[in-house]
Amino acid sequence: MINKLLSVKRTLAMRRWFYFVGDSSCITLAIYVAFLLRFDWKIPGAYNLLLYIPSILLIKLLVFWFFNLHNMSWTHTGPHEVVTITKANIVGSALVFLVIHVFNPAQFFTGFPRSIFVADFVLCVFFITGFRLLKRLYLHYTKGSFAFGKQTLIVGAGDAGVLLVKDMRHQNETTWAPLGFVDDDPGKQGIDVCGLRVLGKTNDIPELVEKLKIESILVAIPSAPSKVIQHIMEEIRKTPVRDIRVVPGVKRILEGTVTVSDIKEIAIEDILGREEATVDTESIRKMLSGKVLLVTGAGGSIGSEVVRQMIKYEPRKVVALDIDETDLFNLQQELIQKSGGENVVPVVADVGDWTKIQRIFEAFSPGIVLNAAAYKHVPMMESYPEEAVRVNVLGTMNLLNASIKYHVERFVMISTDKAINPSSVMGATKRTAEELVRFYNSKNHARFISVRFGNVVGSRGSVIPIFQKQIVSGGPVTVTHKDMKRYFMSIPEAVILVLQAAASGTGGEIFLLDMGEPVRILTVAEEMIRLHGLAPDKDIPIIFTGMRPGEKLYEDLMTPLEKSEQTAHPKIFKAINDTIKTDIIKQVALLEKAAVEGDKPRIIAILKEIIPAYNPQLHP
Ligand SMILES: NC(=O)c1ccc[n+]([C@@H]2O[C@H](COP(=O)([O-])OP(=O)(O)OC[C@H]3O[C@@H](n4cnc5c(N)ncnc54)[C@H](O)[C@@H]3O)[C@@H](O)[C@H]2O)c1
Repeated sequence: MINKLLSVKRTLAMRRWFYFVGDSSCITLAIYVAFLLRFDWKIPGAYNLLLYIPSILLIKLLVFWFFNLHNMSWTHTGPHEVVTITKANIVGSALVFLVIHVFNPAQFFTGFPRSIFVADFVLCVFFITGFRLLKRLYLHYTKGSFAFGKQTLIVGAGDAGVLLVKDMRHQNETTWAPLGFVDDDPGKQGIDVCGLRVLGKTNDIPELVEKLKIESILVAIPSAPSKVIQHIMEEIRKTPVRDIRVVPGVKRILEGTVTVSDIKEIAIEDILGREEATVDTESIRKMLSGKVLLVTGAGGSIGSEVVRQMIKYEPRKVVALDIDETDLFNLQQELIQKSGGENVVPVVADVGDWTKIQRIFEAFSPGIVLNAAAYKHVPMMESYPEEAVRVNVLGTMNLLNASIKYHVERFVMISTDKAINPSSVMGATKRTAEELVRFYNSKNHARFISVRFGNVVGSRGSVIPIFQKQIVSGGPVTVTHKDMKRYFMSIPEAVILVLQAAASGTGGEIFLLDMGEPVRILTVAEEMIRLHGLAPDKDIPIIFTGMRPGEKLYEDLMTPLEKSEQTAHPKIFKAINDTIKTDIIKQVALLEKAAVEGDKPRIIAILKEIIPAYNPQLHP
């Protein structure tokens, strides 16, 4: 019966009548009880309550109307509403006092006891608030603390959703009030999961949001590929709900530890690429545990994540090398805060400085070297090819030479999809570095490998932080070309796959990471604008700036001469290419000379000789 009463669909007029009747009863009760208390439960006949009550009722109802008390949510009465109710009662009681004691029309109220005002005020606040809390109290009694939070729909009635609801119950959650699930599994329709009903499929989100007055949506399917998340976002966007949250990676589900504190606001990373790779952590532990690890470019997007992940495998020491002292300092501070950072040694150095590199190898004797130091900005390196050569080619060669000299066990170079059929100096220099790694490996029977992958989401200087800034400052968002596409993977996922590839490499391999489907940059821009609750082209304009020097519309992950071979890990492939460039050292020496002399055309010409597929773009 009570359930029926609570779920009756209320029109505005019904709601107002409901509050009119309820508040009138509360005001009447308050004044009556105030008289009872004042006169020890026997009100003398001289007091004309039939006159007092309608007068006080009239004044207070008018004041409550003015304070909008009839428009309060019956389900969400909280501290803010209690303050408003108290204010309305102060004004109401003050007006009643004025009318009765100051104006006292026709002497009707002569002899009205003053002490009644205080008791009436307190009782009236108490009754009016209590009346508005009734529904919440009832819901709390029947449904626990869920009654107090935002009306929430959970997308996904799988492991993550179940663990989440269980934790919400356990924690006596008050932020969210889950009303049910949606799930596309036909077998789950209409069933109860963890005491909550599966109310429909993801296509039903708009209808359910309207019907249930949903205020918040929690997406609890961490294993969903980005296409599924994009579809869910399309459905959510048809609704006015803007409080969209997600629960994080699959790993947490496997560990069975999804908690309320894992819930975070949805970000573009969740829509484009998700941290979902599972790896053989034992092989990575075997490679890293107890060893001295050297990470170059440790202050950068990839390098810093490599350090973060490496320290979880209990290495003896991680030497974090970078030329940028600020980035290194920030990383060090972060690690100190998180884990003490005792076994991380920051080293400020330039990979292009052979003497310094030797000294570092001699001092630390690293067992594993991971080279993530690079100059990566394509248009910038078109202007400074000598710098791209110095860092990407000669820096890598210095590290390779030192690795041979100081008997490094494993050398891993981070490469990029821009190295394939390069159209830029940056891509051509990274490709030359790959060739160097293979050459050094072949000559020394070492375990030197490269891992190639496409764009990661949110790295420094990538489109996402740039779009973020542009949107926050009101636009426009600048996209180079409407058809430009890029791969997107989360940085943690790329790095764990790099470590997995490194652990499985026997030497000389170029590993490729399966990046999923490439995404149009225009789509990324639109999604990000929508995530800010704005409309692309309406609230934030998108303008096309034209391709920049060295940029390509699409990136490949393999050259035409390479064949791919699946490894034991479904997301890691090997590029098979048996030809080793035997004259690479001679060519790199020429490249070094051209770079020292700052002879840009010569640098381009030598790079073209080393990498015949290099298609340099002509710049003015
Ligand atoms: N970010 C991506 O989307 C992505 C994708 C695939 C591959 N990669 C490759 O990963 C590598 C690292 O990229 P990132 O995104 O981390 O770049 P980043 O700019 O964030 O980091 C590079 C780091 O190298 C350091 N560095 C530059 N020159 C140096 C020198 N001479 N000596 C020592 N340190 C030096 C920089 O200070 C910086 O901290 C690059 O080769 C890049 O091509 C990046």
